Amino acid sequence: MTFLACRIYKQENQVEHRLEQMDLDSLCTGDVVIKVHYSGVNYKDALGATGRGAILKQFPLNGGIDLAGVVESSSDSRFKVGDEVLVNGCGLGESHDGGLAQMARVPADWVIPVPNGLTMQDCMILGTAGFTAGLAIHRMQENNQTHEKGPIVVTGASGGVGSIAVDMLSNLGYEVIAVSGRREFDDYLTNLGANKVCSVEDLELGQRPLEKGQFGGVIDNVGGDLLSQLIAHTNLWGNIASIGLASGHRLDTTVFPFILRGVSVLGVSSTNCPMSLRTDIWNRMGGELKPSHLQDILTEVVPLSEVSRVFDALLDRKLHGRIVVDCQA
Ligand SMILES: NC(=O)c1ccc[n+]([C@@H]2O[C@H](COP(=O)([O-])OP(=O)(O)OC[C@H]3O[C@@H](n4cnc5c(N)ncnc54)[C@H](OP(=O)(O)O)[C@@H]3O)[C@@H](O)[C@H]2O)c1
Repeated sequence: MTFLACRIYKQENQVEHRLEQMDLDSLCTGDVVIKVHYSGVNYKDALGATGRGAILKQFPLNGGIDLAGVVESSSDSRFKVGDEVLVNGCGLGESHDGGLAQMARVPADWVIPVPNGLTMQDCMILGTAGFTAGLAIHRMQENNQTHEKGPIVVTGASGGVGSIAVDMLSNLGYEVIAVSGRREFDDYLTNLGANKVCSVEDLELGQRPLEKGQFGGVIDNVGGDLLSQLIAHTNLWGNIASIGLASGHRLDTTVFPFILRGVSVLGVSSTNCPMSLRTDIWNRMGGELKPSHLQDILTEVVPLSEVSRVFDALLDRKLHGRIVVDCQA
């Protein structure tokens, strides 16, 4: 049996991807074979497949850091033929053949039943982006992110993680300031639940090590100078979830926000999240963490044959929300 996959190669230091037919025996080993119905395109997928970021640990490899599908066969008693399941992180699409393919084979320990309250397509509208937003909010809540501490800033707000974070935070009753570099998405973000939508410039952030406290917390997708400035403007005991690096990986800060205001920077790693916490967060996302506007956040469903166009457009900041891949189309 052959099937289609987006396979990534490295030749003479050049990373390239192409759609090709492959067979099950060529996939990385695992206990569970899954017919992949949906995958998604995340920032990391685009970096990895184009070679603009060093994401893959081995070549060749099928791309795709998340998938939802139906169990085709399983040598592990926890899963049976016909079960609807999902996989995200754990090395999928980085060191193990990923979800941008019609079939996948993975260790049973990575597999999560599709949560009550979500369809397979919902799972991939959320995808790694949604899971990461959920994990960030979980970490902030665990560290006592009360509503009284003030509004939560979400940077890179029109992107996948940003859009879902805005929706989830708003549902949880937080005041949300969505920061986007693109004014054309003001109405989109307001509709998702943002109380205020603005540019970085509108925030009028200062450059001093400790600035006027204005924000209760931050979900940051962009890194670099903006993250440094937001840390300095965070109120007493507020939390900053560091997720992304869309604008840069450097962080220039001082200890003052930490030792004078009790501010915490919380790391968020979707790849390495322990399985029990990963499962809890997926289950919460079928319930009280479920975004109210999943169908608005879904901006396009594409077949595997179009992922290449989506990789480029995502990295060129021409897309918003979430792109889902219908792997059987
Ligand atoms: N830590 C983890 O486990 C984890 C998991 C998933 C994603 N991430 C990271 O989180 C970030 C967001 O991922 P995503 O999948 O949501 O990507 P995405 O859909 O492409 O969204 C990224 C958003 O960041 C903003 N942006 C893009 N380029 C920028 C630039 N040069 N300067 C400033 N802002 C820029 C844009 O928002 P606006 O136009 O609205 O400003 C864009 O929509 C990425 O850096 C990704 O690598 C990390």
